[in-house]
Formats: sequence, structure tokens, C-alpha cells
Amino acid sequence: MTDTKPPRKKESPPGAPGLDTRAVRGAAEPDYNAGAVVPPIYQTSTFHFPAELSEARSQGTVHLYTRLGNPTLTQAAQAIASLEGAEQGRVYASGMGAISSVLLSTLRSGDEVVALENLYGNSVTFLRDVLPRWGIHVRWVPEEESSEVARSVTDRTKLLFLESPTNPTLRVHDLSAWAKAAEDAGAFLLVDNTFATPVNQNPLALGAHVVMHSATKYLSGHSDLIAGALVGKAEVLAQTANLSETLGATLDPMAAFLLLRGMKTLGVRVRQHNHNAEAVVEEFSSHPKITNVLYPGRFSEKEEELARRQMRGRGGMVSLVVKGGLPAAHRFLANLRVIHPASSLGGVESLASLPAETSHRQLSAEERARRGIDDGMIRLSIGIEDAADLVADIRHALDQS
Ligand SMILES: Cc1ncc(COP(=O)(O)O)c(C=O)c1O
Repeated sequence: MTDTKPPRKKESPPGAPGLDTRAVRGAAEPDYNAGAVVPPIYQTSTFHFPAELSEARSQGTVHLYTRLGNPTLTQAAQAIASLEGAEQGRVYASGMGAISSVLLSTLRSGDEVVALENLYGNSVTFLRDVLPRWGIHVRWVPEEESSEVARSVTDRTKLLFLESPTNPTLRVHDLSAWAKAAEDAGAFLLVDNTFATPVNQNPLALGAHVVMHSATKYLSGHSDLIAGALVGKAEVLAQTANLSETLGATLDPMAAFLLLRGMKTLGVRVRQHNHNAEAVVEEFSSHPKITNVLYPGRFSEKEEELARRQMRGRGGMVSLVVKGGLPAAHRFLANLRVIHPASSLGGVESLASLPAETSHRQLSAEERARRGIDDGMIRLSIGIEDAADLVADIRHALDQS
């Protein structure tokens, strides 16, 4: 079990603002057109350009068309890059837009990807069903072999891809070990940091080359938009630029504005999510109707030690496995009064979903079983409400299930 208090922050070195300051300030460059503290929404598809267009474009001083770039999108991308300590960032129409753009633009026929078996369901289906059609082979790493990831790497490996903590099993994986395996092979490491958020974990500081976010979740934080982001090394992101513009997975400026607004409170929200989730874990760690409580670090001593090393807080996601399988899980959902039964996560409001019927429904029952996803698993996205109300709601729903 981890601290219930928000982690004490280290003093920032002079000149390096802390995370909350970076979250509030947003992009490095404010919008100077009218001196607005809150940057405007450039809700336009196209831009007036100077007659000498080619010259202005070569100097990077004009925008042409929003699918190719827009100042509101640049602001959002810079803000996320700043939170992750990245050289550069790009935003996308969704988390899957970000994942498909980076995979399709960096891989070629004959290349191999090494991926952790436990990824978000649509990431699995993209790797399993789409990439092989383009001659790209995926080597899957089961969770129990994660610390030996280097063994799966071959001279064809171009990219390694994992999430930690995993969705929905909340296992913790050694990001530095994966980064070393990538570095030794001359490949790059892509980490989906959606669950942890930049408040709790910074994969780039542990050696990752690119970090991906479903900004739909904690970064925006209010369950009111769909967005994605890639941040990391400029040389890798540069490879994604042309293809993602052509694929058209461009974020809408209004969504980028809402995302910027949401990110200002990321630090305070995530510390409250951490605090409330820990309260729920503590309360239900031994309950007669629950067979397992999954939370980062709880799987084993080794994972607890790893989580302590690479995370500052454990996050707001908790999975409960109820006795009685799917019918009991359905009764649990039907009896919630505060927590919404809904898919997605990372918003201020608590949500409950059944991975077998939502995030991992595309996998066969056998594939789910191999990943430890039980039919009675309820994934909770613990919000920022009063912890006591959430505990009472879960207890009531369990009593009825
Ligand atoms: C961990 C994780 N990665 C990626 C995604 C995909 O993001 P989006 O729904 O924004 O496309 C999700 C969505 O639930 C997710 O949970």
C-alpha cells in the first residue's frame, strides 16, 4: 500500500519550473496577437497567406490549412511536451490516431515490433490485425516475461511498445529495462502513459523515446472530448509528421482549447485521484464478495518496489474482481448511485466498466483469460469526489451484487 498523502514534491532546480507551474503556464510561447492570457481558439479550416507563400512556408512563419497545423493545436502539443519533459509534441484526433500514426509512419514491411501482451484493446487489434497486412510482424511479450524483454528483440526490431500500469490489470513493468532493450537494438521505445499521467510517471526520463497519451482521459480530465498526443525525441516525431497529416487524424481546435484548459488542473486532479483510489483499495482489500483488488504495486513485492522506483503516485485506476462472474458484475453496475457505469476513464467523475464488455471486448475469451481479464472484473476510474461517498457507493453495490 502506498502513501495516502500526495507525494512531497522535490524542489525544482533554479530555472526549471515544477509540474504544476508548467501545467498552469501551458505552452512555452503564449499567444502574443492580443496579449490574451488564455490563448484564443483558432477555429478556422484555412489561413490567409502572403503572396510570397513558398518563401514564408520555408521560414515556418505561416499556417496554411488546419489539417496540416493550427496555432491552438501547437499550443496544446507544446503544453503536453512540457509536462513530459519532451523536446517536441504533436496532438491527434484521438489516442488511436496517435498510435496508428506513429506505428504506420515509423515501420516498414519486414520490420518487427515487440509489444507487451497487455495493451489497451484497440492497440492490440491494430497490432494484431492491421500491421501484419503491411508485412510487419509483432512479437508479443507475456507479462511474466516482461523483465526478459531483450530476448524477444531481433535485428529486425524497430519499435518496442508497452503500457505501465497496464489496462485493466494494473501491473507495473520496468520501463528502464524496456528502454535498454530498445537502445541496445537501435530501436525505439514507445510508452502509452495514459494511465499514469505525467504527474505520476515520466517515461522519457527513464529512457523511452516517445510517449503516447489518450488525452481523452486524465490530460483533459472532464470526459468532454476525444484527443491524443505523441511527445518525445524530435527525430522520431519528425518521421510521423508527413504521414499523420496525410492520414488526417487532426485534432479539432475547439477540442485542443478544452484540452489546454483541462491540463491547467492536472496536478491537483491527479493527486486527488491518487488519494481517493488508495482509500478505495484500502477499504476493499479484504471483502467477502471480492476475490482480487488490482492496483499498481499490489501484484508482488517486486512490483511494489518497481512502482516505488518509477512512479510518484499510483494513479486513479482500480480493478475489482467480484465473485459470481459477469452476472454479479452486472448487478454491481446496476446498483451504483454515485459512480457512473460508463467506459473511458480519467475524468473528474468516477466511472465503472467491465473490460470483458468494453475496452477488451475485441479479444476472444481465451485472449482475455491469458491476460488475466476475468469476466467478473470491474474497472473503476476513481474520480475526485469525496472518498467517503465513493466507498459507500461501492459497498452498497457490492451488498446488492
Ligand atoms: C491506455 C489507453 N490507450 C489508448 C487509448 C485510446 O485512446 P482514444 O480512445 O483517445 O483513441 C485508450 C482508450 O481507452 C486507453 O485506455
